[in-house]
Amino acid sequence: MLCLFALLYYSWYLIGVFAIKTDEIKSVLEMEGESVTLNTDVTVTQRNKILWKFGDRGVLIALLDDNEVSLFNGTEGQFRDRLQLDHRTGSLTIINIRTKDSGLYELNIKGRPGDRVKKFNLTVYSHLLIPDITRDSSQCSSSSSSSSSQQNCSLLCSVFNVSHVTLSWYKGNSLLSSISVSDLSISLSLPLEVEYQDNNTYSCVVNNPVRNQSQHLDISELCHTCSEIHCCGVTEAAIRLAIIVLVGVAAVAFVVYDIRSRNAA
Ligand SMILES: *[C@@H]1O[C@H](CO)[C@@H](O)[C@H](O)[C@H]1NC(C)=O
Ligand SMILES: *[C@@H]1O[C@H](CO)[C@@H](O)[C@H](O)[C@H]1NC(C)=O
Ligand SMILES: *[C@@H]1O[C@H](CO)[C@@H](O)[C@H](O)[C@H]1NC(C)=O
Ligand SMILES: *[C@@H]1O[C@H](CO)[C@@H](O)[C@H](O)[C@H]1NC(C)=O
Ligand SMILES: *[C@@H]1O[C@H](CO)[C@@H](O)[C@H](O)[C@H]1NC(C)=O
Ligand SMILES: *[C@@H]1O[C@H](CO)[C@@H](O)[C@H](O)[C@H]1NC(C)=O
Repeated sequence: MLCLFALLYYSWYLIGVFAIKTDEIKSVLEMEGESVTLNTDVTVTQRNKILWKFGDRGVLIALLDDNEVSLFNGTEGQFRDRLQLDHRTGSLTIINIRTKDSGLYELNIKGRPGDRVKKFNLTVYSHLLIPDITRDSSQCSSSSSSSSSQQNCSLLCSVFNVSHVTLSWYKGNSLLSSISVSDLSISLSLPLEVEYQDNNTYSCVVNNPVRNQSQHLDISELCHTCSEIHCCGVTEAAIRLAIIVLVGVAAVAFVVYDIRSRNAA
């Protein structure tokens, strides 16, 4: 009998040990500017004490003790006026989140039925701007003489100041090509070659694990600006040349006139 008790106690003790040791980290992904709530999934009793800590150094940012909520500003006032704590559940809400808020949040629940620890790994992604589709003008001028390439239009889809994104070209719902960056990148571009008479079903999409932004490709609009630029570039050059010639002729005429009138005097 005593033996059975000891065994029961021992297994209960083991479960208890494992329960505390289970450092499961819950991954939370969100966009910059949104609000995020880290749920305790418990109902707090008056005997519970709840602590929220942030970062590698475990800076205390929120405390619920004896039904009283205390909020702290974090290192260098990082969380000033942006924290809310539900006093019934102890869940922490961070409003208007920033990429700097990414990191580990540790929840400590003290009191009955035993101390518990929960960890949240928050990743905040920066805003996604709509990608920019431009005609690759270098292709434009160099290949204008070749007849086969006149059927084609070289395009470039770009995004600026991004990190942890994938940039892709789609035709309808099928993926044509893509490129990814994990670090901060000043600009990211992906080329695409289309034919003039192709149907307008192309789009360029930038996405991170949370959200995406897309830009529809208007072939008839983009692929004709090239020939216009080409035409107007030539016209402009001709006008400039004409002006330079006119000014030159006028200057020579003036000098000649000046010399003649001096000689006459
Ligand atoms: C947090 O910052 C506010 C505003 O600067 C200040 O009034 C308050 O005392 C600070 N709280 C703590 C706990 O440092
Ligand atoms: C938190 O998540 C990021 C990516 O979302 C990952 O790189 C990092 O290793 C995670 N940290 C921990 C402690 O799990
Ligand atoms: C034109 O584009 C098509 C694909 O859209 C490609 O197969 C072809 O080789 C291109 N032609 C030239 C001259 O670049
Ligand atoms: C990218 O960021 C740099 C500095 O951080 C800024 O000067 C530049 O204007 C930004 N570019 C765009 C397209 O937002
Ligand atoms: C464009 O779409 C029409 C019908 O929607 C189809 O018959 C034609 O083959 C398509 N052209 C190309 C180049 O995909
Ligand atoms: C972009 O996001 C929407 C939902 O916001 C989703 O329906 C769509 O499939 C996504 N597109 C891509 C290419 O990931």
